[in-house]
Amino acid sequence: MSAEDVVELAKRRGFFLQAAGAYGGVSGFYTFGPQGAALKQNVEDSWRDRFTIREGNMEVDAPTVMPEPVFEASGHLDGFDDMLVECPECGESHRADHIVEDNTDIEEAESMPIADVEEVIAEYELVCPTCGTGLAGQAIEDFNLMFETNIGPGSSQPGYLRPETAQGIFVEFPQLAEYARNQLPFGVTQIGRAYRNEISPRKSLLRVREFTQAELELFIDPEEDEPDLESVADVTAPFYPATEQEAEDGEPFEATIGEVVEEGVVGKPWVAYYLGVAKQWYESIGVDMDRFRFRQHLGGELAHYAADCWDAEAEVDGDWIELGGFAYRSDYDLGKHHDHSDEEFTIFKQYDEPVTVERPTVDPDMSVLGPEFGGAASDVGDALEELAERNPDAFREAQRASEGASGDEPRAGEDGTVTVEVDGESYDVSVDAANFAVEEVTESGEHVLPHVVEPSLGIDRALYTVLDHSYRTDEVDGEERTYLDLPAEVAPTTVGVFPLMDRDGLGERAREVAEELREAGLSVTYDDSGAIGRRYRRQDEVGTPFCVTVDYTTIGEARDDDEGEPGTVTVRERDATAQTRVPVEDLAETLVALRDGELSFEDV
Ligand code: GLY
Repeated sequence: MSAEDVVELAKRRGFFLQAAGAYGGVSGFYTFGPQGAALKQNVEDSWRDRFTIREGNMEVDAPTVMPEPVFEASGHLDGFDDMLVECPECGESHRADHIVEDNTDIEEAESMPIADVEEVIAEYELVCPTCGTGLAGQAIEDFNLMFETNIGPGSSQPGYLRPETAQGIFVEFPQLAEYARNQLPFGVTQIGRAYRNEISPRKSLLRVREFTQAELELFIDPEEDEPDLESVADVTAPFYPATEQEAEDGEPFEATIGEVVEEGVVGKPWVAYYLGVAKQWYESIGVDMDRFRFRQHLGGELAHYAADCWDAEAEVDGDWIELGGFAYRSDYDLGKHHDHSDEEFTIFKQYDEPVTVERPTVDPDMSVLGPEFGGAASDVGDALEELAERNPDAFREAQRASEGASGDEPRAGEDGTVTVEVDGESYDVSVDAANFAVEEVTESGEHVLPHVVEPSLGIDRALYTVLDHSYRTDEVDGEERTYLDLPAEVAPTTVGVFPLMDRDGLGERAREVAEELREAGLSVTYDDSGAIGRRYRRQDEVGTPFCVTVDYTTIGEARDDDEGEPGTVTVRERDATAQTRVPVEDLAETLVALRDGELSFEDV
């Protein structure tokens, strides 16, 4: 099937449609219809169950708008750009790297420097995808992807719609660490909307401007915390490391999580652990594992915060698309917020035994520094403190010199002074005025900046991929049928309930049955319109795994003994269209067991 088939079904059956169509629509924004909203909720619930609850993590829900200093610190204000090229003829904006990827053999133009992309555009005589005008010689600009807004009236407090949910977790780290009793490792999850002002949204839900992320930020002590790989060691997947992508005949290869850790293919065991968890999760929601792989980012492709990153990718409509990224963010984010904000973003790590260490100190004599350095005196004092910590030997040399132990050739510090820099100016300070000393102190631990491991999954992309991968056609009773082979766990509706006809009390009984099933926690739709075959087709197209038909046998008025036991209903399974009869009193329990995978249809 093609992307058009998926998009057509999605709109006709209520999965998703371009938003605000009455006003011409706007690219990159989608409304989820009744089926899509239910599917999305089920995918999110399933993610929450696997990544939050089963992993013992904490979930938060942060604002989508945050003030500018957050993004100055995070690096998004300076480093979160795409390459913009504008057509000189029609004025349309395009992503220059996409034009290169779509029209040459280059696969990762995003990681190329702008000048190289400009050269490729000129060399291949690439043109505007909208009007065909040549783009050679057009300047490419860095375009920041964040949506800007003003917080409150006026423009004095700029804010931004978050480009990733992650920052809402990082900025609250000091308090979250308290909730975790300051014990590493601990994980914090969040499912929520994020926003990127994409230059050219495309491919339906695959590149949008408002989307839902499901992110886990795992805070670890890089020196001590290792994952227990046992539960995922045997999980297999295709891996496509950077070395294979760069080799002339490189290919993805199949391996287990245990193997990729042992052989160093995936350098960070925590990243590998979550690749294993994610592979199992993607399979459980209906991603086709024959069209799935893990691909490592190339060096130039890495986000500004990532030390390493693997993407989960799925093949959709002939292309490999990113479903989620598994990044090792090291101490980048906490370090930045530690430096830029007023709070500590460290954890106090207790030693097994207290240790005694030497601590260099200074106590600058301001009655000397003040007259000598004027307005710079206080900064010179701070610089002395910083130097004592970084290079106490500079003070020791100067002390020896001031006590008269100088040799023939004076070396640094041998004239009894230490030199510090403030705002590019050098200041020589007499070591006596610095009051340098070394104290012995007993320390019970140290402050460490945790490192971050981040599985970040796109919900919209997962949803689109599941629709694409579950789309099936076959023939039933001589007619072509379209159905979605969705796992019962995520299907928008679990059971369709139909009366054979809406008369002779069948409608009333079917409505009662539907109500009983809803009370048992099942998602149920009731349908009494049209021929029963058409009702089955409607449910098949939205992936409803089971349909229940209430007929004359159910109400004890069967005209023929062959029609089954009184008080039973017909249960029909979507994929094989097989049917069986189940007593109404067992129906809810049977359907719940079928939905939860505790019972197979053949065993009903
Ligand atoms: N937090 C990772 C990302 O948004 O891509």
